[in-house]
Amino acid sequence: MLSVSRAVALLLASFIGITYAVHTVEVHGQDFVDTVTNKRLTIIGVDYQPGGQSGYNPGAGEDPLSNGTVCLRDAAMLQSLGVNTIRVYNIDPSVNHDECASIFNAVGIYMILDVNSPLAGESIDRSNPSGSYTTDYLTRIFGVVEAFKGYPNTLAFFAANEVMNDVPTSQDNPPYIRAVQRDLKNYIAKHSTRTIPVGYSAADVREILQDTWEYLQCAINGTTDESRSDFFGLNSYSWCGSTATYQTSGYDVLTAMFQNSTIPVFFSEYGCNKPEGTPRVFNEVAALYGSEMTALSGGLVYEYSQEPDDFGLVVINDNATVSLLKDYDNLQAQYNKLNITLIESANSTAATLTPPACSTDLIDNSGFSKNFSIPSPPDGATDLINNGIKNPNNGKLVQVTATAVPMAVYASNGHQIQNLAIKPLPNDESNTPGGESTSANATSTASPSASPTKKGAAGKNYSVATGSLLMIALTALLML
Ligand SMILES: *[C@@H]1O[C@H](CO)[C@@H](O)[C@H](O)[C@H]1NC(C)=O
Ligand SMILES: *[C@@H]1O[C@H](CO)[C@@H](O)[C@H](O)[C@H]1NC(C)=O
Ligand SMILES: *[C@@H]1O[C@H](CO)[C@@H](O)[C@H](O)[C@H]1NC(C)=O
Ligand SMILES: *[C@@H]1O[C@H](CO)[C@@H](O)[C@H](O)[C@H]1NC(C)=O
Ligand SMILES: *[C@@H]1O[C@H](CO)[C@@H](O)[C@H](O)[C@H]1NC(C)=O
Ligand SMILES: *[C@@H]1O[C@H](CO)[C@@H](O)[C@H](O)[C@H]1NC(C)=O
Ligand SMILES: *[C@@H]1O[C@H](CO)[C@@H](O)[C@H](O)[C@H]1NC(C)=O
Ligand SMILES: *[C@@H]1O[C@H](CO)[C@@H](O)[C@H](O)[C@H]1NC(C)=O
Ligand SMILES: *[C@@H]1O[C@H](CO)[C@@H](O)[C@H](O)[C@H]1NC(C)=O
Repeated sequence: MLSVSRAVALLLASFIGITYAVHTVEVHGQDFVDTVTNKRLTIIGVDYQPGGQSGYNPGAGEDPLSNGTVCLRDAAMLQSLGVNTIRVYNIDPSVNHDECASIFNAVGIYMILDVNSPLAGESIDRSNPSGSYTTDYLTRIFGVVEAFKGYPNTLAFFAANEVMNDVPTSQDNPPYIRAVQRDLKNYIAKHSTRTIPVGYSAADVREILQDTWEYLQCAINGTTDESRSDFFGLNSYSWCGSTATYQTSGYDVLTAMFQNSTIPVFFSEYGCNKPEGTPRVFNEVAALYGSEMTALSGGLVYEYSQEPDDFGLVVINDNATVSLLKDYDNLQAQYNKLNITLIESANSTAATLTPPACSTDLIDNSGFSKNFSIPSPPDGATDLINNGIKNPNNGKLVQVTATAVPMAVYASNGHQIQNLAIKPLPNDESNTPGGESTSANATSTASPSASPTKKGAAGKNYSVATGSLLMIALTALLML
């Protein structure tokens, strides 16, 4: 029995803490699952790294989630595009991400964070894994966990990206990838109030792809093995051009390979821009989210902003305005055709699959590691894991008050989009495609057309909090 004063304290604490927040997500067998609704979360995502690698400038305290005004602009465009997840590659654990994370949370967009960066000492060096697996390196990646563990829309962490990119690099690196995953998962278990999935993002190198996935999903010491991946991301560029099909792209082969995966598999990058060049038509979206490929958990299109390699959906202009490309319109039109009921349905068999025991039989390529003896943490790292890093920078949600985007965004037809704003979603929803055509709706005359109009969320205000308060009050009374 709770005392009255404790119940009142709980009640007040709950009320003060109320902010719209997406539901946290966990891994159940092959699926990401919303912990409240139990619906499957299929990733409808975009890779977000404005400025490319130079968007990460730790000396200046800049990374892709450090400027709230920029995030407001981009969250508005990603919300109307219809995505529910972004992947962010290069994070500075010491800067404040509260505004950006809170804005993406408010519009129902999850974040998958890479814990590494391209700077020296901030990732496992594929040519020297043992030398780069250091306590300093672990301090950095634990810092990223500290910075993001407090946001409900932190979906997952990538422990490593494309460390193996050919057969030779698959010889010594696999045990180190598992070691980093183990250390991250042990750190999260000790220092986070909830579990956060940790996994790997693989290059599409077919000689080692299946071995990589088998090596990372298997369990060394039964299902509690902390070194196994919680999910598997594949950077996949095999569907190219407007005439490609499920068969010619090899998507059929991938689907067969991952059919019985015991962890979620998704495309951590996709969106080939050859052979016809841009704009891309994104016919692969219908296949990826269709009934043939439900074994996969969706994917992230590479990438939001136009960078030198021509994969952008939008151009970020020097004056901080944004111009949508035709690619944005084409992708939005493809998302608008998705069957949301289908992609939110879990396959009850796939959701309960348990991992195979690790064994050398799982590995086919003679060049791929068969070593399941995982290196111990470097000197001092066990203390870090047990006691936490010094002076962690802990992110937390803040109220999102400004919703109007202050800078201009131009649709692909050149017209400025009028009344552009984010639309905070009520009831802790995640974002879904809204059925709009942003560019077609942008006209030269001012009209309220082009801003996202989702599920009546617009102007709904914070009245939901009153409902929540009543629920909490009732619950507190019942507990007395
Ligand atoms: C598996 O268990 C053995 C014996 O308990 C232990 O030495 C080893 O570190 C464990 N390996 C992993 C990856 O958990
Ligand atoms: C459900 O998952 C199981 C196990 O992976 C698979 O064999 C089956 O084909 C799936 N069913 C559907 C309808 O996708
Ligand atoms: C997946 O599991 C089903 C049911 O157990 C089995 O029939 C099928 O052969 C498996 N597929 C693969 C690719 O292992
Ligand atoms: C910003 O720059 C773009 C591209 O150069 C230009 O088209 C647009 O008119 C500028 N907008 C403002 C508000 O300065
Ligand atoms: C955020 O970005 C906007 C647009 O580029 C810029 O005007 C502003 O100065 C930036 N804010 C900070 C704090 O850097
Ligand atoms: C969407 O998927 C559901 C679940 O598989 C199915 O029952 C429904 O018929 C589909 N709707 C359309 C329009 O295809
Ligand atoms: C397996 O990896 C461990 C480090 O994790 C190393 O000590 C051991 O020598 C390796 N075994 C073989 C056979 O390469
Ligand atoms: C925007 O465009 C879509 C698709 O063309 C259309 O169905 C919708 O009604 C438009 N919305 C507004 C508010 O004009
Ligand atoms: C939202 O709440 C604020 C403060 O209570 C109020 O000024 C505003 O009019 C409300 N907006 C809507 C759309 O209800």
